[in-house]
Amino acid sequence: MVNHPLFPLLLVWFFGAYILKSSAITDPSDVHALIQVKLAVDPSTIREGSCMATWNFSVDPCDNLFGMYFSCGIACSRDRNGAQRVTRLKLDGSGYSGTLSPAVGNLSSLQQLQIEGNTFSGSVPSSIGQLHQLVILDLSENLFTGRLPSSIFEGLRTLQILNINGNLLSGTLPITVSSIVNLVKCRLQNNQFTGYLPDLSSLKQLRLLDLSGNRFYGSLPLKFPPSLFSASFRNNLLRGGFTKQHVRALNPALVVLDVSTNRLSGPVDASLFQHPSLQQLILANNSFTMLINELSGEDMHMEKSQMVAIDMSNNRIGGLLPRMFAVMPNLSSLSLSNNAFYGQINVSYAIKALSERAGMQPLQRMMLNGNYLTGPLPSLFMKLSPENTMASLVDNCLPSCPSRLFFCQGADQKPISLCRLYNVNV
Ligand SMILES: *[C@@H]1O[C@H](CO)[C@@H](O)[C@H](O)[C@H]1NC(C)=O
Ligand SMILES: *[C@@H]1O[C@H](CO)[C@@H](O)[C@H](O)[C@H]1NC(C)=O
Ligand SMILES: *[C@@H]1O[C@H](CO)[C@@H](O)[C@H](O)[C@H]1NC(C)=O
Ligand SMILES: *[C@@H]1O[C@H](CO)[C@@H](O)[C@H](O)[C@H]1NC(C)=O
Ligand SMILES: *[C@@H]1O[C@H](CO)[C@@H](O)[C@H](O)[C@H]1NC(C)=O
Repeated sequence: MVNHPLFPLLLVWFFGAYILKSSAITDPSDVHALIQVKLAVDPSTIREGSCMATWNFSVDPCDNLFGMYFSCGIACSRDRNGAQRVTRLKLDGSGYSGTLSPAVGNLSSLQQLQIEGNTFSGSVPSSIGQLHQLVILDLSENLFTGRLPSSIFEGLRTLQILNINGNLLSGTLPITVSSIVNLVKCRLQNNQFTGYLPDLSSLKQLRLLDLSGNRFYGSLPLKFPPSLFSASFRNNLLRGGFTKQHVRALNPALVVLDVSTNRLSGPVDASLFQHPSLQQLILANNSFTMLINELSGEDMHMEKSQMVAIDMSNNRIGGLLPRMFAVMPNLSSLSLSNNAFYGQINVSYAIKALSERAGMQPLQRMMLNGNYLTGPLPSLFMKLSPENTMASLVDNCLPSCPSRLFFCQGADQKPISLCRLYNVNV
């Protein structure tokens, strides 16, 4: 019977008839849609004890929540006409595989659709765009493939959380994504999306945007959503520099910005470090070459800087070590590893690392390895201790960096021939 080709139809017919016979409590179109959703899941992946295993449509879903049947997976509430409507479809991550039935778009009172952490595959049904009351859509960590149809975002005006990260979705993002005007969190990371970064500046509520681990190309955005707090463009194919124009585009509420592991190149405009609210800035693993428009420490007004962590490692940034990092009051982690900084290390770095001054956080992580820095080391460096500071000066141009100094790690400095390319006095 179960293997009979008409089995799904018979099942729908049988349970449909049953529900008509009993006085249905749940809206019949919701029941029909739930039956379709279950039928689209490979029955062998509906494990005993999982939510869906308890979905027995010979009883009314909303009338039997938390009992032997429908013990989890859905929530209901009564609508204006007194009918019970399914408002939440939230599956456990117990390994369901199969497709997401387009009938899910008929659960028209749905506010939460969450099926994350399973192995659903196939395309994301465009009927999701009919869910005009949806607040949370979480399809993350599944195996969905294909493009997102543009209609999918058109009706989602109430959506606040969109998590479709960790799938195999590809193609460009539909521009209708900018019509989800109430969106607060948008996680699209770790897919295969491509194209230019979308203009999301119309999303006035957006606080979190993660586009990392895709194939977006073009330059950094010239428009940002006004409320954006955290933005990650990490691990894409972005090119171009971090110009004054790009710095000006950053919204003043931004706290976390990660553009690491792209193909960004050329100069970074130092006004970036004067951003009024940025705390974490990650520029690592690009091909940036220098900082420009850097003013002297005093003139940069670093006393207002909120920066806590800066990572510019693995670039090609040359020049003297910038003084501004040593006077950022809250900076506690700085990585300038594997660049082309040269010249002497200013004593202000040691002063910052040793700071006990109120309002001046000590630099707890100071990674300067893999540059062309020369000696002599300011004597204050001898006061650094491995208990308080994580530091490395390995692979520079110091005349000696004895292994008894923890930040030398007993490792080699660069050969003199290489050092002379950057430093006249070696
Ligand atoms: C579904 O519920 C009916 C009525 O309680 C019961 O007879 C039937 O065995 C149940 N089916 C499954 C698969 O548990
Ligand atoms: C959605 O409901 C309508 C009306 O009941 C029905 O005609 C349609 O087939 C349903 N869609 C799906 C995908 O089941
Ligand atoms: C940069 O790339 C290296 C090597 O691939 C990796 O180990 C490191 O975590 C990356 N750094 C950042 C900040 O992404
Ligand atoms: C630095 O950190 C402290 C404590 O976390 C915080 O109160 C302060 O606003 C931050 N910013 C500056 C500029 O001191
Ligand atoms: C360290 O920086 C200060 C302030 O910019 C400067 O006056 C001083 O000469 C620098 N010291 C060295 C050794 O470069």
